[in-house]
Amino acid sequence: MNKKINIKTKEKSYSIEIENNSFHKKLEKITSIKKNTVFIVDNKVLKIFKKFKNYKKFNHISINCSEKIKSFKIYENITQKLLKLGIDRSSQIVAIGGGTLGDLSGFIASTVMRGVDLILIPTTLLSQVDSSIGGKNGINTKYGKNLVGTFYQPKLVIIDPSLLKTLPVRELRSGYAEIVKHSIINDKKFFNWLEKNSKFIFDLQPKILLEAIYKSIIIKRKFVLKDEKEKLRNNYSRAILNFGHTFGHALETYYNYNKKLTHGEAISIGMTISAKISYKLNYLSYQNYEKIISHLNNNNLPTFDKNMYNKNIFLNIKKDKKNLNGVINFVLINKIGNAFLINNLNLKNIKKIIK
Ligand SMILES: NC(=O)c1ccc[n+]([C@@H]2O[C@H](COP(=O)([O-])OP(=O)(O)OC[C@H]3O[C@@H](n4cnc5c(N)ncnc54)[C@H](O)[C@@H]3O)[C@@H](O)[C@H]2O)c1
Ligand SMILES: [Zn+2]
Repeated sequence: MNKKINIKTKEKSYSIEIENNSFHKKLEKITSIKKNTVFIVDNKVLKIFKKFKNYKKFNHISINCSEKIKSFKIYENITQKLLKLGIDRSSQIVAIGGGTLGDLSGFIASTVMRGVDLILIPTTLLSQVDSSIGGKNGINTKYGKNLVGTFYQPKLVIIDPSLLKTLPVRELRSGYAEIVKHSIINDKKFFNWLEKNSKFIFDLQPKILLEAIYKSIIIKRKFVLKDEKEKLRNNYSRAILNFGHTFGHALETYYNYNKKLTHGEAISIGMTISAKISYKLNYLSYQNYEKIISHLNNNNLPTFDKNMYNKNIFLNIKKDKKNLNGVINFVLINKIGNAFLINNLNLKNIKKIIK
């Protein structure tokens, strides 16, 4: 089974191709054109990359991946390596790895030679359903996450769900949190479907997994197409995709992006808090609130962290990049399947409400 999703933005039209067991076949295809190709590869998938029979004909840079690679230092290091390898304007970069490698490679591809072609081959569930879609990239600074980056659409995204076979279950869960997020903000039917099918997703049942990835991308695409550069401040805003991310990012910053929480775990806690605020402010029914919490718990995603109400979390939120002119923008929900943006929440009140 395979699926193709087309994305048409002002800047570029490209497709996202989803197919099980397609990795090597697709590598052959993208390298068959006359272009200088350089691969940037996550060490965790290097072995499978090296099963590509022509891999020695191309330069590759391999790297151990974690949130730490989204830094000025690694950005410079890889950019210099690419220049040393003689990358030019007509070259293409193929990024094979999770969201951290994709975010870093996207930023590199958009700036080296003022932009070279980029092909993304995401290898984690999170990157397959979320980070490789929509053209955002970036690196972290000591002032916060993703504060430096560009909008830069790839030329092609290749998704092979069977690459997830080696992914640790904790990382699968992390990606699953973003799938749940997509369902909560936009598609109640999809949420109900997930309630029935999540166990098959975790078992990597090919058909169900592919379907979950496909549905998730369709929802992300909707918001990206309406508001590619996140300029809107209404319910079509791309910022809606940040449901759960205000608290989630603040927690990640609090833990200094260490292994204590994966991105998806932080987002799971963030979604719990946002759902709680939505409920306490009478936007969301208790029944819907409960449904969300149970679903996260049933899939072993955290809904609590002992530091989630620490005062530094609230300080981090004040610095959140969704804040414009000092106003805190928050994504809330009024039911499973519908999210909205609110900009008049008082942080002090929120603190009181959720404790
Ligand atoms: N650009 C966007 O729109 C966007 C959206 C959501 C998240 N993100 C970013 O994505 C990042 C998180 O991505 P992630 O969760 O993929 O993290 P990650 O890239 O750190 O990958 C998680 C772990 O899995 C390993 N790995 C990758 N593929 C593997 C495989 N097939 N088998 C075994 N191990 C494998 C990695 O080496 C790493 O240790 C965050 O930095 C987040 O900010 C970006
Ligand atoms: Zn996220």
